[in-house]
Formats: sequence, structure tokens, C-alpha cells
Amino acid sequence: MKVEYDVEAGALATFGVRARAAAVVRWTTADDLRRLPEDLPRPLKVIGGGSNLLFTGDFGGTLLVREGAGRIERESELIWRADGNVELDALCAALAEAGVRGLENLSGIPGTVGGALVQNAGAYGSETCSHLLDVRLLELESGRELTVDRQWLAPDYRTSRLQSEPGYVVLSATFKAEPATSPANVDYGPLRSLSPHESPMTIREAVLATRASKLPDVKQTGSAGSFFRNPEVPAELLRPEMPRYELANGLFKVPAAWLIDQCGLKGQRRGGAMVWPDQPLVIVNAEGTATAADILELEQLIVNTVRERFNITLTPEVEHI
Ligand code: EPU
Repeated sequence: MKVEYDVEAGALATFGVRARAAAVVRWTTADDLRRLPEDLPRPLKVIGGGSNLLFTGDFGGTLLVREGAGRIERESELIWRADGNVELDALCAALAEAGVRGLENLSGIPGTVGGALVQNAGAYGSETCSHLLDVRLLELESGRELTVDRQWLAPDYRTSRLQSEPGYVVLSATFKAEPATSPANVDYGPLRSLSPHESPMTIREAVLATRASKLPDVKQTGSAGSFFRNPEVPAELLRPEMPRYELANGLFKVPAAWLIDQCGLKGQRRGGAMVWPDQPLVIVNAEGTATAADILELEQLIVNTVRERFNITLTPEVEHI
């Protein structure tokens, strides 16, 4: 375990905005977490790949970062276990290479398995928790380890219990894949032209190609993926031309990208922050020089403009700390 105090921590988040942290702990074993120094600045904040995180300023607490690439184990043909720090895409690749289904639609999502579970990351009609069996957690305050199932996690659109109860660290997770003979999930827009009999690897490649055509590569351009959630709105706020998806609760999910696009905000800038022209739900750190204030100003401009025009209030999907 390595403990550092008052360090530049911006590089721990894919937005690439400068920020200092009062402390950063790099840990490897569960015992490290049980032996944390008593006087660490609080709060303790667990971070994974930092791909859904905005430092809004300097962070006064301690960031807990797990060292290493983590292990993926195939426990049986369809049961796969991954450490929390495994890159989600590495797990998606491993399943697709083995010819089993379940995670191929999540290909290319940046971040770790642990982070993806906390926010139930999703894309192209699949969510991280869709094929989850169980999760091994460590409760930070007590040092106790526990195994929980999907029901405990209560996954919902871009959230789970681990987001509202942040005192846990994801040590590992087990997923149950499906055999290649079961149909692929090709219901979502750009995948509809594919046959449900295509191999998991073919679906993975199609997903990666679609993502590459719309989303910035976080290794080249700082961003945190979709900045806002797609809002759920009541019928009286719908307009005839508005794309919508009816939910079981009687509300309608409307693409925030469409609302932002209609407001003419593609390419709009505040300092170094910019609305990504190919997918306006994404804010980027265009040249790597954006400050947190630039991003917050652009966020406010988007929220205000969409609210004035449509009377719909967008809420951020990216965690602000
Ligand atoms: N649209 C426009 N103009 C544009 C782009 C999109 O009007 O320039 C409209 C279109 O109507 C399009 C709709 O927005 O049909 C939806 O766009 P898209 O299918 O690209 O998906 P999204 O709803 O904007 C969500 C996720 C993404 C995920 C994609 C694909 C959220 C907040 N975002 O975006 O997730 O990759 O679906 O499944 O749910 C992320 O969470 O970081 C993320 C990238």
C-alpha cells in the first residue's frame, strides 16, 4: 500500500481536468483496506477508471485506487469472475473471444468492472448488471467482506445501491454468460441491421465501430462519456417531433442528445470545454486545457438552454466530486 498526501490527482479521471487530492491511497489487497491509516483525510472515495467522474475543484478527502490490472477467471464455461479493477472492456473481449454471449453490447465502455457495477453502466440495450450473478464487497468502515446478489444491488438506469451507499469497495464480481446458440441482443438502433445469430465477436466489433463513429476516445480526448442522463418526462411535455420511449411508470424517456441538438449547442464552447459535435450528450476537454469551471459553465448553459426551450431539466450522469 502506498499513501501520498496533497497530490495532483487530475490524471485519475478521464476528463483530464487538474485537481489536487488531500490524499491518495494505492492499495492491492483487502487487508490493505483494513489497515488504512486512522488519520486519512475524510471522506474516503473509492475510484475505478475515473471515467464517469468530474473533479469540480480540489478534493479534500482520500482517493482509494486499486493497483494492477486484476484477474479474469473462467470458473466454468459460462461462469466468469473478474476482479473489480479489471477493465470492463477486457472482460467483454474475453467473453467474446471465448464465443459466449452476454457482455458484447458493453464493448468499449471505458472504466473498470467495479465502476461499471456502481453506476450499472449500459449501452446498446444491455446493462452491466444484466448478466451479473454476485458481487464480493468489502465494507470500508468495518473491514467486513460480504457477497451480495443482483437483488441487493437494486440496479436501475445508470445507478445501483452501490451509488447511494458509497461505503463499499467492489473486490470482484461473477457474471453468467449465455451460450453462443442463444440469440444476440440486436434490438437497439444501430445494431438492428445485424442478425441475432451473429457471433458475439461480430456484435462486439459492430458495437466498437458504432462507438468509434460517435464517441470521443477517452485516451485521446478528455471526457466522461454521456454527461447527462436521458430525462424521464410526463406526456404533457412531449412535442410531436420528439423521439421518445415509453416507460412502465407512464413517463417517457427522451434522448438528451436530441434536446441539446435541437438547441443548436453542438460544438458550443466555454473555455476549453466543448459539446462533442458527433454526440452532443458528451462534453469534452477539447485540447486538454479545460478547467472544472469551464465544464461547469458549459453544463449550466446546456441545462438552462434546454429548460427554457422545452421546460425539461437535464440532470448530470457524471459524478461531481
Ligand atoms: N441524437 C440527436 N442528435 C445527435 C445524436 C443523437 O438528435 O447528434 C438523438 C437521436 O434521436 C438518437 C438519440 O439521440 O436516436 C439517442 O442517441 P444514442 O443512440 O447515441 O444514445 P444516447 O441515448 O444519446 C445512451 C447512453 C450511452 C450509450 C448509448 C448507446 C445514456 C446517458 N447514454 O446515449 O452511454 O453509449 O445510449 O447505447 O444513457 C455513457 O453512459 O457514458 C454512454 C456513452
